[in-house]
Amino acid sequence: MQNITNGNSQTANAKGTAKGGMKSSQLMQLFEDELKDIYWAEKALTSAIPKMIKNATSAELVKALEKHLLETKEQVTRVEQVFEAIGKKAVAKKCEAMEGLIKEAQEIMDSCEPGAMCDAGIISAGQKVEHYEIASYGTLSQFASTLGLSAAAKLLGATLVEEKAADEKLSQVAMSAVNIEAAEKVN
Ligand SMILES: [Fe+2]
Ligand SMILES: [Fe+2]
Repeated sequence: MQNITNGNSQTANAKGTAKGGMKSSQLMQLFEDELKDIYWAEKALTSAIPKMIKNATSAELVKALEKHLLETKEQVTRVEQVFEAIGKKAVAKKCEAMEGLIKEAQEIMDSCEPGAMCDAGIISAGQKVEHYEIASYGTLSQFASTLGLSAAAKLLGATLVEEKAADEKLSQVAMSAVNIEAAEKVN
């Protein structure tokens, strides 16, 4: 059973004055660690998304993924700009969660024939990736704001908007072409 009374249950406090509050140096450490994590994740996605494009059938899905691949490449650069803004060298740290999500996407693609059903699986895997990114960038931009790193917060906020839009686009693709085709295949 999880021990919720251990020291890891402390949360960040903007002013750092409340009991159990976090020092800004600790928040900065956490911020840097999470930045390294998302840097690895974005770089991994620049290799993973092309595989999803290759396996996708729906023209709308291919288009959405191609657009997001370009954005993802820009996001890698944007993370590098965040490192630069805080005066740190850009370092990637393996993101176990993203590695797992990419593996799952690969498993889905390995186990289906190209077509509507495979497309639905790619969308599902893609949306899990986007949700991880939305959570990461939401946290990172909040941390940056709390730390008074306005340039970093702006860059991270810009990526957050793109990730949300990519997730929304995948939902639209799922609702239009893909799901209807998948349903028709049953009959
Ligand atoms: Fe991204
Ligand atoms: Fe993304």
